[in-house]
Amino acid sequence: MSVRTVILAAGKGTRMKSDLAKVLHVAAGRPLLAWVLESVAPLDAEETVVVVGHQADTVAELVEGRGRSALQAEQRGTADAVQVGLAGLSDRSGTVLVLPGDMPLLSTKSLQGLLDHHEATAATATVLTARASDPSGYGRVLRDGDSVVGIVEDGDADQAQLAIDEINTSVYAFDGAALQEALAEVTDDNSQTELYLTDVVEILVARGHRVGAVTTDEVEAMGVNSHEQLAAVSALIRQRINEAWMYAGVWMLDPARVYVDADVRLAPGVRLYPDVYLEGATEVGEGAEIGPSVQLRDSTVGPGASVRYSVVQGARIGVDVNVGPFTYLRPGADLAHGAKAGSFVEIKNSQVGRGSKVPHLSYVGDATIGEKSNLGAGTVTVNYDGFEKHHTTIGDRVRIGSDTMLVAPVTIGDDAYTGAGSVISEDVPPGSLAIERSDQKEVPGYADRRRRRLEDPT
Ligand code: UD1
Ligand code: CA
Repeated sequence: MSVRTVILAAGKGTRMKSDLAKVLHVAAGRPLLAWVLESVAPLDAEETVVVVGHQADTVAELVEGRGRSALQAEQRGTADAVQVGLAGLSDRSGTVLVLPGDMPLLSTKSLQGLLDHHEATAATATVLTARASDPSGYGRVLRDGDSVVGIVEDGDADQAQLAIDEINTSVYAFDGAALQEALAEVTDDNSQTELYLTDVVEILVARGHRVGAVTTDEVEAMGVNSHEQLAAVSALIRQRINEAWMYAGVWMLDPARVYVDADVRLAPGVRLYPDVYLEGATEVGEGAEIGPSVQLRDSTVGPGASVRYSVVQGARIGVDVNVGPFTYLRPGADLAHGAKAGSFVEIKNSQVGRGSKVPHLSYVGDATIGEKSNLGAGTVTVNYDGFEKHHTTIGDRVRIGSDTMLVAPVTIGDDAYTGAGSVISEDVPPGSLAIERSDQKEVPGYADRRRRRLEDPT
């Protein structure tokens, strides 16, 4: 059976009250339309056309590589959108699967079931319906036994029709040629003065065609029209993702408080504590412990590493590395095997070598640190002169004293030391101690004299 797919994604999504096109709103790290494209992909349709309109360029970019885009210049309703979609197909003679871009929970299995039923019954159109516990807002399905005789929109329904709990999911299989003919007859004579795709059902029935239905579960039918629905759908997707990871051997203390984006990869034996956000293209290796309270975005965590109470973006955390509590790793932070970044430490665009440690209260930016070096508490790489960023190089087995300012560009040789409180602006040769601070002065008897002065001011 030849199938071509039309996805409707031109609408603004007025009820989102947002400038972002509705299908670009994100659930579990993926735009709604990307979820729909994922569920359609395994059907191996001859062609997929996505009807774009609102923020057409951005939506079309998302479609690239997975289908073609067709522009609906003015959003005159779902029937008009389908007309635009059909015009974008190279052939309209076979089955056309129509679905909206705002239903991220729809499964490939349900879509395949709809197509199989459509083919087996040789109906002209088959509607995917669902029984809804709260049907308000949806189009209601009007039946005559196994056949569908019409769909009435919520705003156009009478009392008796509003009581119907079988809703139109907005997913259909059509005979392409019959659909095209019926679309020509659709008018905007309704409460929203829009061209309703749902009207083609009545038109087809009046022409003597048979319209059938397949019922799917209510959850899959959930569309996103409001932020409330986006949150509900996101929660269900998250639950599916977490269940799949737990099945794959990931431990979660409280899965309801773990947020894993769709494209994240976790190894078996990963341990996730509450309030963990794994976002973007993040990867976590075997046995690593993340959380509580960690946000990891586009970052890699090696096997056996531990990250607690920290924010990590675009960083690479190596094998057995220890991060946190209260660490901020920014893009380009790269911590090698056994390294450590401790409390109130910020690291960006820097390599921290094997076994090297930045345990407390430090800023490391644009630096290269060798192996087995230690940065004392309060170390700062002074990398920015207000115009340019400069590099700091620290060798192997270096001991940077507490509260050292490393004024870049500067190089500290292997096995070198810096004295606590030093402002180091010259290179330090290997094995040397660099110390830069004034000699200590002592004022004997000061405390007694001060007390006497304050107790007896005369
Ligand atoms: C639609 C159905 C309703 C069904 C519901 C299921 C119609 C008239 N109604 O209503 O029966 O119960 O879906 O969620 O079809 N779109 C365009 N161009 C347009 C208008 C819409 O591309 O001119 C796209 C939207 O971007 C969206 C999809 O079509 O992805 C559905 O539009 P929407 O406005 O959400 O329809 P509903 O009112 O939800
Ligand atoms: Ca909708």
